[in-house]
Amino acid sequence: MANNMTFLETSVGKKVLMAATGFIIFGFVVVHILGNLQLFLGPEALNQYAAFLQASGPIKWTVRIVLAASVLAHIVSAVMVTLQNWRARPQKYAVKRYQETTYAARTMWLGGPIIGLFVVYHLLHFTTGHCHPVKAGFIPDSNGVINVYNNVIFGFQDTVASGVYIFTMVLIGLHLYHGLWSMMQSVGLNHPKYNHWRKAFAVLFALLIATAGISLPVSVLLGLVTPV
Ligand code: HEM
Repeated sequence: MANNMTFLETSVGKKVLMAATGFIIFGFVVVHILGNLQLFLGPEALNQYAAFLQASGPIKWTVRIVLAASVLAHIVSAVMVTLQNWRARPQKYAVKRYQETTYAARTMWLGGPIIGLFVVYHLLHFTTGHCHPVKAGFIPDSNGVINVYNNVIFGFQDTVASGVYIFTMVLIGLHLYHGLWSMMQSVGLNHPKYNHWRKAFAVLFALLIATAGISLPVSVLLGLVTPV
């Protein structure tokens, strides 16, 4: 019975959990991508930033654990919301009519798992080096430190690797656009008079982040940034 349900058993509860965990995940992605733009400032800037992030073990591990827990909760709540929707309407619509929905909304399900797979590839690419086309990016200097600046450039000099990032950035843009739009709706920012502002904000923000992410592999492929 509805009044015996815990908050997370309700559809709204799951959506709130999805929005909150989505916010944490995208908070990380936005800061991470904007931080990586320091590639354009040169090796010192990016390497210092990377060293700063690596320096504090407890902070690094707290971020990793919060992120991993958020990703897990985000996936579980997405699956549960979908199952609940299916149960509420066991018969499929004879004709699918998309109301108040967008291409971005309909591709959320495709985007999520692909972004998840990308993260696994990305960690094997830039963090562990298992999928790195040029192992030179992982040769530590005399202090045992890896030159992250060179590592990123060697990584993106591979057209296939860069292609994977560019494709994922487009999906991230769509996912971020729809996520921002729904999140604003969940917190009550839904008024016909102001919805065009909500849309404009979500579009601009998603475009900014996707373009920032795409600019990194593209600049390397064009030879605008080169290893030191
Ligand atoms: C063009 C875009 C990106 C670039 C250049 C980039 C670059 C990097 C680099 C160089 C590292 C390793 C840092 C180090 O070892 O010090 C890293 C780690 C990581 N990246 Fe990215 N990244 C990008 C996009 C993304 C995206 C879109 C996501 C998530 C959807 C993501 C998630 C992560 C995670 C989870 C780590 C591991 C952090 C940790 O060690 O705890 N990255 N990234």
